[in-house]
Amino acid sequence: MIELKNIKKSFDNQEVIKGIDLTVDKGEVVTLIGRSGSGKTTLLRMMNALELPTDGIVYVNGSSYQNDDKKSQITVRKQSGMVFQSYNLFPHKTALENVMEGLITVKKVKKPEAEKQALILLEKVGLTAVKDQRPNALSGGQQQRVAIARALAMNPKVMLFDEPTSALDPELVNDVLRVIKDLANEGMTMVIVTHEMRFAREVSNKIVFIHDGVIAEQGSPEKIFNHPETTELQKFLNILNEV
Ligand SMILES: Nc1ncnc2c1ncn2[C@@H]1O[C@H](COP(=O)(O)OP(=O)(O)OP(=O)(O)O)[C@@H](O)[C@H]1O
Ligand SMILES: [Mg+2]
Repeated sequence: MIELKNIKKSFDNQEVIKGIDLTVDKGEVVTLIGRSGSGKTTLLRMMNALELPTDGIVYVNGSSYQNDDKKSQITVRKQSGMVFQSYNLFPHKTALENVMEGLITVKKVKKPEAEKQALILLEKVGLTAVKDQRPNALSGGQQQRVAIARALAMNPKVMLFDEPTSALDPELVNDVLRVIKDLANEGMTMVIVTHEMRFAREVSNKIVFIHDGVIAEQGSPEKIFNHPETTELQKFLNILNEV
């Protein structure tokens, strides 16, 4: 479903991704972990053509893009839905309208049908009761679930999550994680950047530890968390355990 081939990325002559190969199969949940600044967000954004690699090639659902070709970038972007740490909802629209928006403007779905689809998605993320509320009347966890429903409305083949719960108060985290878990159980292909290690262990087929711009180690949650091989990963896990 996703294939990264020898991906490199530099910002201002500083190489932050230094040659990454990664395959994500259909239905797989892959979690990227690593220290702050190790390049997780950059890598995820390249899967969505929001960031373009300096070198290498990205395939998503059979499409790839060239750095100088906007059209191929858009084709790749359409394959995936992205959920960020911040929700970026339209503040003047209700939850329902936020989910309907892309269906109407991008997918050209007629309004009654868009509403029908949006209601199904809001039910899926547990927000039917607040469908007519605007974002500022919703909790962070509710807003993030609207953002997930909005991404799902585009019918993506892959979902990309960049620290979806890190801006949330602790008591709101689980509702969002439950929605992501439900998607995993339905067979959605997903790449997740998270610091929620317990969640990563439960939901992931594969954990990828990024260190200094390369994949230092990857494998099953059992291997990564119980039998880390590299000193870098051992150190990273030790620091987490101390917190
Ligand atoms: N637009 C940019 N311009 C310049 N440097 C950038 C840009 N985006 C990222 N970087 C740099 O690239 C490196 C990797 O950043 P990235 O955001 O991918 O790390 P991360 O692993 O997601 O970190 P965090 O866990 O803090 O979110 C960092 O050194 C960062 O400063
Ligand atoms: Mg990041």
